[in-house]
Amino acid sequence: MAVDMELEAVLRPPECPQAHYPAKVITLANSKRMVVREVTRDDVPTLLKAVHPTLFIDKDYYNVVGARIYSELLAWQYYRVQNEFCLVGQIDGIMVGMVNSRMYTAETGMSLHTLAIDRGLRVGAHLFAAKMEHHIEYLGQDEVLIVAESPIGFRRWMIEYGLEPTTIPHELGGAPSYRLTRELYFASKARLVVGDRPVPEELMALAEKEIVVADEAMIREKIVGLRGR
Ligand SMILES: CC(C)(COP(=O)(O)OP(=O)(O)OC[C@H]1O[C@@H](n2cnc3c(N)ncnc32)[C@H](O)[C@@H]1OP(=O)(O)O)[C@@H](O)C(=O)NCCC(=O)NCCS
Repeated sequence: MAVDMELEAVLRPPECPQAHYPAKVITLANSKRMVVREVTRDDVPTLLKAVHPTLFIDKDYYNVVGARIYSELLAWQYYRVQNEFCLVGQIDGIMVGMVNSRMYTAETGMSLHTLAIDRGLRVGAHLFAAKMEHHIEYLGQDEVLIVAESPIGFRRWMIEYGLEPTTIPHELGGAPSYRLTRELYFASKARLVVGDRPVPEELMALAEKEIVVADEAMIREKIVGLRGR
């Protein structure tokens, strides 16, 4: 796409400097090691391929969340959203989940979405925890505003972290936000935020070499499950 940089300077929202998320590795309940790392705008076309099948999965709100992530990723790629970041989870290079979020202000984070492709391993819960870790510990923010679009999300975030209800409308549809404060984050950290650093060199090299996207039928089967749940 040809880009008029003069006009782009007007169309692109101004951004504040953003610290990098240091990669970590989490050993899951099935003993597989999941690398969690920050990706860049260049990775968006690959991420879109992993998200696309979810647009047609009418179960556990995957279609709603998938469609929103799809649009947020495109907006990020084309500089139409301010201070977004995206972390992915990879096992043996294969993408098993992702989270995205953004800095609303220097002090306040606006949590966007969490998507788990490999299920039953708390992949989504670990990725959400990594997103909160990034907001509070590396971006140095005071609070993160969060909403849940699904009952599983509500259980994972609002209940597991004991998030504070507020009346602040969240930018995802205006629902009242729940808040993770620094205090709540550090109170939950030992229980919910796991992982080791640095990531062993060979694991990191494999993750960075390529974000492998499982084929569409496999993604569908992993999400919907053989038990038809
Ligand atoms: C919410 C979400 C990120 C949580 O991911 P997660 O922590 O990895 O959890 P899972 O989705 O794998 O599992 C949630 C529960 O459903 C069960 N489950 C549902 N379908 C399953 C399947 N196909 N295979 C295995 N487990 C399944 C799990 O056993 C688990 O039970 P538990 O809560 O007792 O542990 C994930 O469910 C998801 O991506 N949902 C769609 C998008 C969404 O709602 N995002 C959050 C918006 S706020």
